[in-house]
Amino acid sequence: MRSFHAFLLLLITSYGVFESVPAQDQSEFISLACGLVPTNETFTERTTNITYKSDASYIDNGFVGSINDVYKSTLQQQAWNLRSFPEGERNCYNFNLTADRKYLIRGTFLYGNYDGRSQLPSFDLHIGPNKWTPVKLGGVATLSFHEMIHVLTQDRLQVCLVKTGETTPFISSLELRRLPRGMYPQSGRSLILFGRIYYPPTLLAVRYDEDIHDRVWVPDFNSTDQRRSISTDLFVNTSTYSYDVPQVVAKSACVPANDSQPLTFYLKFNDTNALLYVYMHFAEIQNLEADEIREFNISYNGGQRFMSNFRPPKFSIKTLSNPQLVSSLDGNFNLTFKRTRNSTRPPLINAFEVYQVLKLPLLDTDQDEASAMVNIKTSYELNKKISWQGDPCAPELYRWEGLNCSYIDSESPRILTLNLTENQLTGTITPEISKLTQLIELDLSNNDLSGDIPDFLADMKSLKLIKLNGNPNLNTIIPESLQRRLKRNSLTLILRETPRKENEKVPVVAIAVSVAVVLTLTLIVIFFVVRRKKRKIKNGTRSSNQTIITKDLRITTAVKMLSRSSAQGYKEFKAEVELLSRVHHRHLVGLVGYCNDGENLALIYEYMANGDLKENMSGKCGGNILSWESRMQVAVEAAQGLEYLHNGCEPPMVHRDVKTSNILLNERSQAKLADFGLSRSFAIDGQGHVSTAVAGTPGYLDPEYYRTNWLSETSDVYSFGVVLLEIITNQPVIDKNREEPHITEWVGFKLTNGDIRSIVDPELKDDYDTNGAWKVVELALACVNPSSNRRPTMAHVVTELNECVALEVARRQGSEKMNSLGSFKISLSSASDFAPGAR
Ligand SMILES: *[C@@H]1O[C@H](CO)[C@@H](O)[C@H](O)[C@H]1NC(C)=O
Ligand SMILES: *[C@@H]1O[C@H](CO)[C@@H](O)[C@H](O)[C@H]1NC(C)=O
Ligand SMILES: *[C@@H]1O[C@H](CO)[C@@H](O)[C@H](O)[C@H]1NC(C)=O
Ligand SMILES: *[C@@H]1O[C@H](CO)[C@@H](O)[C@H](O)[C@H]1NC(C)=O
Ligand SMILES: *[C@@H]1O[C@H](CO)[C@@H](O)[C@H](O)[C@H]1NC(C)=O
Ligand SMILES: *[C@@H]1O[C@H](CO)[C@@H](O)[C@H](O)[C@H]1NC(C)=O
Ligand SMILES: *[C@@H]1O[C@H](CO)[C@@H](O)[C@H](O)[C@H]1NC(C)=O
Ligand SMILES: *[C@@H]1O[C@H](CO)[C@@H](O)[C@H](O)[C@H]1NC(C)=O
Ligand SMILES: *[C@@H]1O[C@H](CO)[C@@H](O)[C@H](O)[C@H]1NC(C)=O
Ligand SMILES: *[C@@H]1O[C@H](CO)[C@@H](O)[C@H](O)[C@H]1NC(C)=O
Ligand SMILES: *[C@@H]1O[C@H](CO)[C@@H](O)[C@H](O)[C@H]1NC(C)=O
Ligand SMILES: *[C@@H]1O[C@H](CO)[C@@H](O)[C@H](O)[C@H]1NC(C)=O
Repeated sequence: MRSFHAFLLLLITSYGVFESVPAQDQSEFISLACGLVPTNETFTERTTNITYKSDASYIDNGFVGSINDVYKSTLQQQAWNLRSFPEGERNCYNFNLTADRKYLIRGTFLYGNYDGRSQLPSFDLHIGPNKWTPVKLGGVATLSFHEMIHVLTQDRLQVCLVKTGETTPFISSLELRRLPRGMYPQSGRSLILFGRIYYPPTLLAVRYDEDIHDRVWVPDFNSTDQRRSISTDLFVNTSTYSYDVPQVVAKSACVPANDSQPLTFYLKFNDTNALLYVYMHFAEIQNLEADEIREFNISYNGGQRFMSNFRPPKFSIKTLSNPQLVSSLDGNFNLTFKRTRNSTRPPLINAFEVYQVLKLPLLDTDQDEASAMVNIKTSYELNKKISWQGDPCAPELYRWEGLNCSYIDSESPRILTLNLTENQLTGTITPEISKLTQLIELDLSNNDLSGDIPDFLADMKSLKLIKLNGNPNLNTIIPESLQRRLKRNSLTLILRETPRKENEKVPVVAIAVSVAVVLTLTLIVIFFVVRRKKRKIKNGTRSSNQTIITKDLRITTAVKMLSRSSAQGYKEFKAEVELLSRVHHRHLVGLVGYCNDGENLALIYEYMANGDLKENMSGKCGGNILSWESRMQVAVEAAQGLEYLHNGCEPPMVHRDVKTSNILLNERSQAKLADFGLSRSFAIDGQGHVSTAVAGTPGYLDPEYYRTNWLSETSDVYSFGVVLLEIITNQPVIDKNREEPHITEWVGFKLTNGDIRSIVDPELKDDYDTNGAWKVVELALACVNPSSNRRPTMAHVVTELNECVALEVARRQGSEKMNSLGSFKISLSSASDFAPGAR
């Protein structure tokens, strides 16, 4: 097996076309001094010129406090006050923003013995439904801050303080700064700042307005014994890369104290699973003579190559970062800069930033439902309900009291029950309730509601129970539409203590049964027709699309024929029939029937009119080349099929032969995964199993599985990663005439120059979203990680790909006028789109 390490740690330079965010001023800043009173006042901090306002309109709960006066003189003013949360498990700040924008979010904490207890609190910080970080304070007057870069998933953002023990959470200031989307482009959703270090001659931290984005750059206090700082007064061009490195940061750098020694930086993470992005900013800031060069190699963890023969550009910044995540076995990292033999100067670095990837496993509640809940909360003045904070459904542990929600993997939670009994509700029944479209039970009993029973209840398809009893001022005339609904369906409406139950939904059941019977009959008819006509066809073990014509019935169906003589083939055939008879999913090719007449075996699938992805990629299908959007769509659909095999089936299945020729497209160009001949299922208790013979297609075969025989879902993830690379590049998986024969290595090789266009299929003529392309490349490289436990799950792959589709759709809509005929297809599918019953 070839080594796959070459691309494990590629160094790329980030670039791109970026939207501009006006950040010279503070218009994209939200700067909250928590607990500032009176709440309508603002102040401008003298040392930064940042204007702060009170947090009062962003949060419902909490108590304002003020730190002990003795600490104030040395601190910036936004640390003088704070807000504390003795009540409730979770308290949240709410921001109305715009989905998909990127923000730097910083919480600052200074205890200052505000409560006179001299006891340092500890608690957790959450971002939406997910944990961000624990907050532990270094001392009474020690300022700690936590910073992250986050791409909003919705139009709202919640930053929550969560109790973890006896002590009371508090916060001093909360700051949001919008960043251009192209900065830190590999960040996906969220990065937590580990350190942002620079090497000034004096030990001063830098933030706004030297840094137009108000990032905090901290001097490396340990630069003295092994490293020394150099600086220049000359201008350094920092516009060459999109990181807006402050001039003062660019003007200084660190070099080893002993010119012949390497520079080494040590990073230690508590989390042994830490995955890092490192952004390194370089500029040559010394005037080198013509015969002098500064050249060095960059590596990590004692020898893993990062970049060779690097020369910092003269008086202009170059930023290098890793496109793929860096990890270590024990949470310890070291970064080494070592001069090359030809170099006349020691290595140098001006500044670097280290971020740890934050996993966000939980999804927010459906955006429309969450905002409906916020409006319900406001209109019934339920602001003081202690658990009604943050996301309504997620995490389950902090779900709002009176709600029940659905929790399905990779889908946003939906609200199923709303129980507001005995909440002293007044006024009419709010139409906001109609936005909870999946609501099954609504209990508004024992309040003081007035007005009419609204019509909209009749249109809420999922509703099974409405309780309105105990509202003496409510007009109990049932609107006509609701009366019809009561008659038609199994909806129960309770107006008085004794429930009235209407007819059961017998008709619906009856219809469902008869449809099922008709379908079954149809399948049987097709089965027999094929059986009769296909008897004579022999040989061929691969799928072929054939049209079967009979006297009075013409069916277009795909048939896979198999000759009995092949024992292996028979096993595969059997495996496939068994699997397909219990697995049904809109992105898996369906089995229509099969035929086994003793001599020949035939599997009859649904017909996939547009052939396989491989043909489509190669242009053999005659049509136009697949657009980037269609490619992303195909990728997400195939990924959904595979994800279903891994997570939706019991026991889970491993496909074992994921490749472009096994992804078929139907007449509407919907993708379905085919050929389950090699698929294996295994018991749920074990994580995988050792199979006797390694099977699969060369080039797509997981090297780790090949080496160990240990089979698990991650092998499919590897193969899917190869498929993604093919989709992106339209290159053969293995090509002996290429610089690097295997596609994974070739992509790695090409990316070292940092130009994504050098790998994306040139036929696309640059008609794709660069951010989206990076994202897919990153995802693909993560999938083909040589180490299986570093690969993402298919659920994660589906989520990421959905985002890529969304990015591309957004971009397309932006350039709609150029494309008014719409030669491409938009069929956004989402996880919630699965056929009911398939899950
Ligand atoms: C804040 O509100 C108080 C009382 O409503 C008012 O007297 C005061 O002028 C306001 N201050 C500012 C800066 O608006
Ligand atoms: C704050 O703004 C004033 C007026 O623009 C300016 O004179 C001063 O230098 C600024 N202070 C800082 C710390 O940037
Ligand atoms: C956010 O929007 C909601 C409704 O759209 C509004 O009630 C709330 O006051 C807004 N919050 C802030 C901080 O602007
Ligand atoms: C500085 O770093 C070196 C290792 O590079 C370490 O041995 C030393 O203890 C550190 N000094 C301080 C003051 O942290
Ligand atoms: C900085 O570099 C960019 C890109 O090379 C160039 O367009 C710009 O003119 C330079 N700025 C200055 C002030 O030299
Ligand atoms: C610098 O490092 C070199 C090579 O390790 C060593 O020979 C030399 O003594 C060092 N110089 C000083 C001043 O420590
Ligand atoms: C790292 O872990 C140690 C021991 O569990 C703990 O004392 C320390 O506070 C942790 N450090 C950070 C930065 O979380
Ligand atoms: C860096 O880390 C690697 C592996 O963790 C270790 O083998 C190596 O000795 C370290 N290098 C230095 C200079 O400490
Ligand atoms: C730097 O990297 C190049 C290419 O990998 C290698 O040939 C060279 O020996 C390295 N130099 C040092 C000093 O490690
Ligand atoms: C070192 O410099 C010489 C002369 O310029 C050149 O021929 C040689 O290729 C260089 N070596 C490396 C490793 O770059
Ligand atoms: C939510 O569902 C659970 C179990 O299905 C049930 O016990 C509980 O009462 C429900 N809560 C509400 C508020 O309906
Ligand atoms: C609503 O909650 C109350 C108690 O909080 C419970 O008695 C009642 O059964 C709930 N309603 C429904 C429809 O579950």
